[in-house]
Amino acid sequence: MIQKIKGTMDILPDETPLFRYIEGIMREEAERYGFGEIRTPTFENTDLFVRGVGDTTDVVQKEMYTFTDRDENRSISLRPEGTASVARALIEHGKCVDTMPQKYYYIISCFRHEAPQAGRSREFFQFGTEMFGADSPAADATSISLAASVIRRLGLTNVKLHMNSIGCKECRPQYRDALVSYFSKYKGELCETCNKRLETNPLRLLDCKSKICSEIAKGAPKTLDHLCDKCKNHFDSLCQYLDAMNIEYTVDPTIVRGLDYYTGTVFEFIAEGIAAQSTVCGGGRYDGLVESLGGPALSGIGFAMGLTRIILAMKQLGTDKVEIANPKLYIASLGDKAALKALEIAERLRRQGTFVECDIMGRSLKAQMKYANKLNAEYTLIIGDSEVESGKAQLRDMKNGTQEELELDSFTI
Ligand code: HAM
Repeated sequence: MIQKIKGTMDILPDETPLFRYIEGIMREEAERYGFGEIRTPTFENTDLFVRGVGDTTDVVQKEMYTFTDRDENRSISLRPEGTASVARALIEHGKCVDTMPQKYYYIISCFRHEAPQAGRSREFFQFGTEMFGADSPAADATSISLAASVIRRLGLTNVKLHMNSIGCKECRPQYRDALVSYFSKYKGELCETCNKRLETNPLRLLDCKSKICSEIAKGAPKTLDHLCDKCKNHFDSLCQYLDAMNIEYTVDPTIVRGLDYYTGTVFEFIAEGIAAQSTVCGGGRYDGLVESLGGPALSGIGFAMGLTRIILAMKQLGTDKVEIANPKLYIASLGDKAALKALEIAERLRRQGTFVECDIMGRSLKAQMKYANKLNAEYTLIIGDSEVESGKAQLRDMKNGTQEELELDSFTI
């Protein structure tokens, strides 16, 4: 038997209503904030992610699904995230010279070859937003406010905002040096990955989950103490905006994010009480990304939320139950003429937008009624030869058992 690929998932009809409910809130909130939906291809030139996401990141080095195109012998990758594609589309469609800010949102599947576990899969779903051309702290506050309002509307009281600033190209090199000199003292104790990262991406040592490394990281220099005046003022005013907007946050120096394009503000929404994969949303500013992809110098800020992680956080609170629609009417029939009549009525009512079910299995009347109960139909109608002849039948309200006679060819429900 052929089974699904490890790390992918089938979402069956009893789970899709929850996904659709969550996606509905995401769409509604994004559109209320003036973001328009963008759809970009599932696969792109590998170079886009190498240049956009960064060639020292785990995502690009270890996790991309990369293959050679049959036609042109070029390297293609399934998208591991959405930001680089949106930035590419912005440049490609001449939107960099359009009225600013440019605001986009997406709900997409992404692909990363990671070790699957609860909240981590190889194909996963993200809701993301990207805003270009606004470099004020008010833009950061707006992006964060949008993420926070989705989380609030989903009732996720267990999810908290953590924020940091990782500086810009002016102040980051100096901070990087400070980190390298601090961590170099512990070279013998750091894990293998961190020893490598010390040369390639020392910032990532701050969020290593290994016990020893995270203990060492506690004493490391803090980004916020090494920011240039511009970055410091930006971060301070962002905090003021969030205070004024009544959005709670914790300034957390361990938030450094795993993708190379980030500059300045970075943030994560973390679910409390979930041991692993607790980051339900991650984002930040990426002021050099558009330029690095061949566009003009244009600032950007955005975030993405993982749908399955949102669901895990909802499950923890027991708020993951959504109503599944049940039929308004089940038409049970006895005999060929009645079966024909049942389908005729079902067709008429469905054209009016009513959710109707009727027998297409040739079940006995008893079995049909059992099925109607299973479907939780609101009303049932039983048609036999005499009902076809008289053109009348009894409509039964399944909740209180009351009956009402109606005209088969003209009733509505
Ligand atoms: P990211 O932190 O790599 O950022 O992913 C964002 C969110 O996607 C994570 O917080 C998590 O909820 C979810 N996620 C990531 N990997 C997996 C996985 N393997 N399985 C399940 N869920 C996962 C980005 O992707 C950036 N593009 C976000 C962004 C947009 N920054 C600025 N704009």
